[in-house]
Amino acid sequence: MKIAIGSDHAGFIYKQPIKMHLKSKGYEVIDKGTLSEEKTDYPIYAFKVAKSVRDKEAEYGVLICGTGIGMSIAANKVKGIRAAAIQSSFAAEATKAHNHANVLCVGSRTNTLEEVLHFVDIFFETEEDQMERHVKRIQEISEYEENR
Ligand code: RB5
Repeated sequence: MKIAIGSDHAGFIYKQPIKMHLKSKGYEVIDKGTLSEEKTDYPIYAFKVAKSVRDKEAEYGVLICGTGIGMSIAANKVKGIRAAAIQSSFAAEATKAHNHANVLCVGSRTNTLEEVLHFVDIFFETEEDQMERHVKRIQEISEYEENR
């Protein structure tokens, strides 16, 4: 499975360890930057990763900023993207199972690296729940997106 990853300067410190962690689990990782701690803007990398998922270059995306929130707000502007900013194991699991999130957003200022690596594992080990009520809600979002 291919995973696109991106961060801003605040998330950069977590990007390489997450990348190595994913590679050690057998995932192919496409790094969309940033490549240093020099100040930059999170939307640049949110859009790169989100477009990679939209265009099916990657199946999923991982984004890291200070909180994960800015990244999720930007990534969700790209059609077909369901980006979730999470800060707990429960949310990591629920957003994959219930929301079929395709971009995981995490924060370097809200969680330790150990916690974040755990969230990443939970997210990628959780299946998308195909129960009718979850699928229906996701379809409602897609239909809104198509017709707005
Ligand atoms: C950068 O200072 C910070 O605002 C950004 O990484 C992120 O937390 C935004 O949501």
